[in-house]
Amino acid sequence: MSRKTASFVCAECGASYSKWAGRCDACGAWNSISEDTGLAEGPKGKTIGTQRGRKIDLSGLTTADPPILRQTTGVAEFDRVLGGGLVPASAILLGGDPGIGKSTLLLQATAAFAASGNAAIYISGEEAAAQVRMRANRLGLSGAPLRLGSETNLRDILTTLDAERPALAVIDSIQTVWADHVDSAPGSVSQVRAAAHELVTFAKRRGVSVILVGHVTKDGQIAGPRVVEHMVDTVLYFEGERGHQFRILRAVKNRFGPADEIGVFEMTGLGLAEVSNPSALFLSERGDPSPGSAVFAGIEGTRPVLAEIQALVAPTTLGTARRTVVGWDGGRLAMVLAVLEARFGIGFADRDVYLNVAGGLRISEPAADLAVAAALVSARQDMTLPANTVFFGEISLSGALRTPVQAEARLREAAKLGFEAAITSNGIKTTGGVQLRTDPVADLGAFIEKCFGKIDR
Ligand code: TYD
Ligand code: MG
Repeated sequence: MSRKTASFVCAECGASYSKWAGRCDACGAWNSISEDTGLAEGPKGKTIGTQRGRKIDLSGLTTADPPILRQTTGVAEFDRVLGGGLVPASAILLGGDPGIGKSTLLLQATAAFAASGNAAIYISGEEAAAQVRMRANRLGLSGAPLRLGSETNLRDILTTLDAERPALAVIDSIQTVWADHVDSAPGSVSQVRAAAHELVTFAKRRGVSVILVGHVTKDGQIAGPRVVEHMVDTVLYFEGERGHQFRILRAVKNRFGPADEIGVFEMTGLGLAEVSNPSALFLSERGDPSPGSAVFAGIEGTRPVLAEIQALVAPTTLGTARRTVVGWDGGRLAMVLAVLEARFGIGFADRDVYLNVAGGLRISEPAADLAVAAALVSARQDMTLPANTVFFGEISLSGALRTPVQAEARLREAAKLGFEAAITSNGIKTTGGVQLRTDPVADLGAFIEKCFGKIDR
């Protein structure tokens, strides 16, 4: 007779027990243990991951132990953001606004993963399996041996996953999943938290990687993806401006790779296409040099990305001047404006300022300060900046320039895209061999003088 172990689990922490108890020893919660009907124990000796009570030594890794192999999904931009591929038994959260393309991305990635011989399952709580299949057909993925399901009950999902034991399971979306032991409506914080917790625990215990989709919600009734961020290994956000076809997948937390890594996609009529050279794409719509346009040589994660920063400065018609920013931080813009005004007398008080990062990219690096200042002053003076030149450097409150990290990678990328010069702080060091002229300046004052000459203040 096969012996069943763990058939009771704690809803709070996922600890499993062989018999019922009123209080969970692992997390101290009362009345949280219930019979785990959905999860039969797998064949003995085959369970992967942490069996209860089992400890391993840190130093015990021998050559006999297989190294952790990342599994590539076949969508290179997706693998890059994960840190080089999917780590087995990991839990990933993919957040983003509704309609941004999360389902499309994951359908394409899991289909590619399944096509390379891995068992994968895509469970949708939002669409019927037949609808998902229709979409997959339209995306040309119908040949992939991907299993599709449509379920919202957590028990049913866990039972399915336990029976199929895929290498990767996608749950689209976590807000539609409901656990019957939690007394609140689907999408509520306690439901989302409980469902995510059980799915993540399942992932670790059974060696199944799970990707949870989470819609970013504006409405307080539905829990957002932030509720589960701390439970998962990797948090990815899919971003983009609605009117643009570019989509950026960004790792904001990653236990197995660099955070802030980005993957760039383009939404086409046939799903998402990978963009392997994002700089060329972000600069593709740039016309002839015009006042208010500056090219920033940035770093996103480990990858250099060039982007155009556009500024417009117009006389204020209302009482208070407007500051509108798309793709950059409003607080940081206020700081750059204040430094220009207080240190160099270049005022914007009676002018509206609009700042935009072209292409729908969102920049968070302080190194963009100099490019922003360049665009602002160029717009205010109605003078173009030096042609074929990139700008980067962080501006301090005194107006001095700080040296940004990875200057050499930025210069190389700019040279690769045909730029001839870079204006940056004078502290940068390069090992040589970069086919680009660097024009270092000590501070913002020297920069303004260099680009615009004497300014009438
Ligand atoms: P979807 O993946 O359903 O978004 P999410 O899961 O994040 O809510 O994407 C929906 C949008 O993508 C929809 O507005 C249409 C667009 N789209 C395309 O432009 N081309 C396509 O091939 C597909 C599948 C979707
Ligand atoms: Mg969707």
